[in-house]
Amino acid sequence: MTFYEFTYKHFLSKLDPEWIHDAVVGGLRIAGQIAPARALMRSLYGVPSMPVEALGMTFDHPLGMAGGFDKEGECLAATAALGFSFVEVGTVTPHPQPGNPKPRIFRLVEDQGLINRMGFPGKGMDVLARNLERQRVPGLRIGISLGKNKDTPLADAHADYSAGLRRLYAPGDFFAINVSSPNTPELRKLQSSEYLSELLARLRAQIGELAGDDRPKPLLVKISPDLGWDEIDELLDLSLQHGVAGIIATNTTRSREDLRGKNRGEEGGLSGAPLRERSTAVIRHIREQVGNRLTIIGVGGVFSGDDLREKLDAGATLVQAYTGFIYRGPAFVKRVMSEYGDSIR
Ligand SMILES: Cc1cc2nc3c(=O)[nH]c(=O)nc-3n(C[C@H](O)[C@H](O)[C@H](O)COP(=O)(O)O)c2cc1C
Repeated sequence: MTFYEFTYKHFLSKLDPEWIHDAVVGGLRIAGQIAPARALMRSLYGVPSMPVEALGMTFDHPLGMAGGFDKEGECLAATAALGFSFVEVGTVTPHPQPGNPKPRIFRLVEDQGLINRMGFPGKGMDVLARNLERQRVPGLRIGISLGKNKDTPLADAHADYSAGLRRLYAPGDFFAINVSSPNTPELRKLQSSEYLSELLARLRAQIGELAGDDRPKPLLVKISPDLGWDEIDELLDLSLQHGVAGIIATNTTRSREDLRGKNRGEEGGLSGAPLRERSTAVIRHIREQVGNRLTIIGVGGVFSGDDLREKLDAGATLVQAYTGFIYRGPAFVKRVMSEYGDSIR
């Protein structure tokens, strides 16, 4: 057991998860602004480069921070110093909104999982845009996760995604359309062709305009692990038709199988180890269906180098993690990447 895991078990796990999360993000924001603190983090947690070509750009290695951790894009410098090669900031909505009532993050320590029902709380796209414009971190790729406000009807959802895309196009390297959070009522209906076709057509057209003579920036769709294979296939067809660059697989699950943690009955999306196999199966299925026509970012239950390799072997080109970082602590990327490096040598 590492020092962090000991501290987590005996101290951090007794505190409110969202309170700690906010404290960690705040601490990383400040640490990232202090050059010696950044240098210290880099020396402790830096990882050797293992470049990956994906989405028309180079990533320093395949492991990034998943959506929802740095919602406001506050701690980019520290995220890079902790070794992540990219971060997906957001999910951002056009207008500020409070999200669901607290508590809304629950630990399932025995299962190495979390359940959350955040519901996209946040300060809105203008704050995120200003934060991103203020910080430029060499080498750290920035994905921007776009969502819709809770009170925007599904029929008008495209306007929210469009507004986010327009406001955040300049600072983003790629864009993720989040149509798969289980915590915004009806959001996941946007994954069906009834809504998705029009949404993708509009966003692609808008990217064409925003890009002008430059190469259009990549658009990805983040999907739920709870879709059936037919629903996934339909979504893949639409994605290919509309020039989507890739799929982020997967978001959290509503399913609750074989869990022991006392919070297993909480409403929301389950992440972490219990999601690992399903998300890998979804990645494998996508790769079998589309070959190399779409880039896959794999996410769900990555805690170790073996977990990372499992996602890459299944067909992902890039991989993200969130819950693994919470349970394993600041040395997470270093550990996963060195285990992965050892396993392929
Ligand atoms: C507390 C929490 C908040 C999250 N918020 C978002 C979000 O805003 N947008 C998003 O696309 N995914 C969000 N996710 C999902 C993660 O990005 C990821 O898809 C999921 O947790 C599975 O990965 P993991 O097992 O490594 O955590 C959130 C996850 C957690 C635990």
